[in-house]
Amino acid sequence: MKFMLNDELIEDNTLPSDFTALRYLREKRGLTGTKEGCASGDCGACTLLVGALEDGELTYSTLNSCITPMQSLTGKHIVSVEYLSKTGELHPAQQAMVESHGSQCGFCTPGFVLSLAGLYENKQSSEQPIDREAVCDAISGNLCRCTGYRPIIDAGLSMVKEPMVEVSNETPYVELMSKNASIKTQLESLQTDPHDSSNYLQPTDLDQLAHALKSNPEAVLIAGGTDLMLENTQRYRDFDTLIDVSCVTELKHLHIGEASLTIGASVTYSELEDFSKTLYPHMNALLSRIASRQIRNRGTIGGNVANASPIADLPPLLLAFDADIQLLKNDGSTRAVNIADFYQGYKQTQLAKDEMIASFDVSLDKLAQFHRFYKVSKRMEDDISSVMLAVRFEVDNGTLTDVRLAFGGMAATPIRGLKAEATLTGKLINDKQALNQVIEALRSELTPMSDMRASAKYRLDMACNLIRKAWLELNGTNVVTFSGHAVTDSILSTGSEASTHA
Ligand SMILES: Cc1cc2nc3c(=O)[nH]c(=O)nc-3n(C[C@H](O)[C@H](O)[C@H](O)COP(=O)(O)OP(=O)(O)OC[C@H]3O[C@@H](n4cnc5c(N)ncnc54)[C@H](O)[C@@H]3O)c2cc1C
Ligand code: FES
Ligand code: FES
Repeated sequence: MKFMLNDELIEDNTLPSDFTALRYLREKRGLTGTKEGCASGDCGACTLLVGALEDGELTYSTLNSCITPMQSLTGKHIVSVEYLSKTGELHPAQQAMVESHGSQCGFCTPGFVLSLAGLYENKQSSEQPIDREAVCDAISGNLCRCTGYRPIIDAGLSMVKEPMVEVSNETPYVELMSKNASIKTQLESLQTDPHDSSNYLQPTDLDQLAHALKSNPEAVLIAGGTDLMLENTQRYRDFDTLIDVSCVTELKHLHIGEASLTIGASVTYSELEDFSKTLYPHMNALLSRIASRQIRNRGTIGGNVANASPIADLPPLLLAFDADIQLLKNDGSTRAVNIADFYQGYKQTQLAKDEMIASFDVSLDKLAQFHRFYKVSKRMEDDISSVMLAVRFEVDNGTLTDVRLAFGGMAATPIRGLKAEATLTGKLINDKQALNQVIEALRSELTPMSDMRASAKYRLDMACNLIRKAWLELNGTNVVTFSGHAVTDSILSTGSEASTHA
């Protein structure tokens, strides 16, 4: 594989398929500024900034190197914290951290600095100023145990006060990396060099994918690796051959057709977030509650659905819209399965051994109906749902004609509350008795589990309350939703936070 690490062009064809970028930097290159905290994508100490060429533009995004296979970064520009002050001057993100007293023990600091540097670099080309929401979003995957977040947020906000440094050939300063012609040229030269590895295959179109699948029937599929690589780092499972589907052009389609929205399996959360911002704000709001910015930059919709976790956030959304899943067989044939038929038991799906998910089709008519997604978790940022409800109500002349109530975290698979749905169908939207009946029906059909995230009682009570919330919102009541980025300063400073974020 060939890639740029800071200002060095490197070729290395010796790596096992599951060798992480974190291990590569620390063990093979001695770049120990990148830290290992959790090795599970949760703490952000291992954050790297990675530049990729897209449509001729060099853009940078953050990722968790502890769960990223090094070989997935072929053809990319990898920026570690050592690079930021290479010229002897601190990067504005570092300078701001110093001035705002944003570091104490320093273990988390390289990760925070790279998250802030990524924000700084990307905002240089954008009209929008760096505001509090953008800073919180950028550091949503970084944990600090000693400093506290206020000085770090202050650092992020003060970055904009620094004047921009002018582009000049003599100062290949990282601040200007997205405009650095030499990095761009070197990356362009790498694009013509296909990734040629026997243990990590990275097809870029369906033909190459079909060939890779046929020649390696025992290989494991990987997209962003944000679920799969935890098996390696937490359960010590070694992978032999991996087929990376994240660069297959046809699996990255995201478009609105005549009747449906098609979402390719390899579309990342960040991509869908950008796409849905104005078109589907409720979908966008849910996406912003998934994991952290680092994970959303890598994690895909296909990986979330295929992984079949009962607490995954996308399956309830897709259930609410009755989405169809397009499955692709190794021989190139396809079949459609409705999401309601996809899950067959705990972590069991309809996927045959020689099949994969190609895309999801969501009806535009259904997307136009009333819908809401409520995620309840202990923490606002970077936390898994205790309960997740996705609702869709079709209303005709004040009567509910079609109802979907889809839950995550309430059973061994993502499920619909079928009895509850039937109870509401045909009722007037403002029928209070119907609301009480639907809650009774729900209590009789769901038997959630207790675990460290929530007790069975909490989950059931919360599911019922979320249905009340949806019903109130359908009837025009504005139920306050506690949004993480709107958290007030007083909450941050006292550390007291509402226990429910929905
Ligand atoms: C810190 C952290 C926080 C997280 N928070 C959330 C959260 O809030 N909500 C949530 O829902 N999830 C969360 N996740 C889980 C994870 O990020 C998502 O499930 C993500 O969408 C997985 O996608 P991926 O591309 O990384 O999948 P991968 O890890 O690459 O793959 C997951 C599984 O799917 C298979 N696979 C991948 N693509 C395909 C395909 N096209 N067809 C068939 N099989 C395929 C792989 O073989 C593997 O078995 C979190 C994970 C971490 C580490
Ligand atoms: S080491 Fe904690 S996110 Fe990577
Ligand atoms: S400064 Fe010590 S963990 Fe953040």
